[in-house]
Amino acid sequence: MTAPLRIGIAGLGTVGAGVVKIVAKHHNLLAHRAGRPIAITAVSARSRGKDRGVDLSGFAWEDDPVALARRDDVDVFVELMGGEAGPALAATEAAIAAGKDVVTANKAMLAHHGHRLAEAAEAAGAVIRFEAAVAGGIPVVKALTEGLAGNEIRRVMGVMNGTCNYILTRMETAGLPYEEVFAEADALGYLEADPQLDVGGIDAGHKLALLAAIAFGTRVSFDAVEIEGIGRIGIEDIRQAADMGYRIKLLGVAQMTGRGLEQRMSPCLVPADSPLGQLQGGTNMVVIEGDSVGQVVLRGAGAGQGPTASAVMADVIDLARGFRVSTFGRPAATLAEPVPARAAAPAPYYLRMTLVDKPGALAKVAAALGEAGVSIDRMRQYGHADAPAAPVLIVTHKTTRDALDHALRAFGATGVVIGEPVAIRIEAV
Ligand code: HSE
Repeated sequence: MTAPLRIGIAGLGTVGAGVVKIVAKHHNLLAHRAGRPIAITAVSARSRGKDRGVDLSGFAWEDDPVALARRDDVDVFVELMGGEAGPALAATEAAIAAGKDVVTANKAMLAHHGHRLAEAAEAAGAVIRFEAAVAGGIPVVKALTEGLAGNEIRRVMGVMNGTCNYILTRMETAGLPYEEVFAEADALGYLEADPQLDVGGIDAGHKLALLAAIAFGTRVSFDAVEIEGIGRIGIEDIRQAADMGYRIKLLGVAQMTGRGLEQRMSPCLVPADSPLGQLQGGTNMVVIEGDSVGQVVLRGAGAGQGPTASAVMADVIDLARGFRVSTFGRPAATLAEPVPARAAAPAPYYLRMTLVDKPGALAKVAAALGEAGVSIDRMRQYGHADAPAAPVLIVTHKTTRDALDHALRAFGATGVVIGEPVAIRIEAV
């Protein structure tokens, strides 16, 4: 056997401790698979004394991750601290400057600085791998970079935030309102320190931007991802969607269109019997469509110690084997500056609103839609009994979001729409 591959781990939270466990438990298996042993030589974390349930006695300790990244006995810098910038970025830059390969689970850092880091790594002869940054244990980065490399990718879609999928699924199965399930998710420790990263769609948007860069050969452009979170989804929307044969998912869609690169992460209705519609709880799913392969569906745990450490180890083993691939699957200089699509492709929309219950109210809403060029496919007024207000559901034919927004603005002038209507895209999956 050749010399061990020596890794230094910065960040010993759930994932870092998971990597330590795998290296200890599967030492022989990893050595056989990689053709050489994989050895942790040094670690770094915020608090040295904390009990993490793993034995760190055989590793050198560094308080400063930048010092860890520069150590002579570290071949691969494994960044598991997280955070868009700060110590994670400083240490990653230090590792690259020292010519070391980097394995990271940090979607935020790569979504914001990925292109620059990829260029720096190439200039230094180093590589950056990030399987664990997208959809936890699902090997989707490898699928796009390697397994599907012979395809022109048509579309990448996915449910890539387990917390949101847990909340939406639980609202449906337990019939609980958003606020209650959010509090439950918080108590279970599912939410990121800043919950807006989850429920605001930002975390999933980071992941989508990374996949889009590989799929379409473009520079990562997180700022161009159209993002809407799940905070406005009510239990009523979930019930009505289910009644029509749909489920609501926080769905990411990236596709290259004649109008430019479309990247959006937003709540969508998907058919309840589709693979995405069937996805329950905290699980993730990524659907990739290639010109030769057709549709590929990948499903698995999107977070957690074992699944995320599994993804980190896949990258480490690749490096131990000598397998080296450019960060986004092609040299950084060949990644195109993407032209963002100004608007999403036309689609049918679900609209829910409350109307003043008086003669002609519905006609005014229908007229506002008609004047904006939005055609109604289905319409239903439901369960208002003796109430003074009437909840109304409308499903439109395919329309542009611009036309729909025009109609939504016109609703205000009708004087019959109470509060803000909910508009949710219906995605063909
Ligand atoms: N908070 C994320 C999720 C996992 O719920 O899927 C880390 O990206």
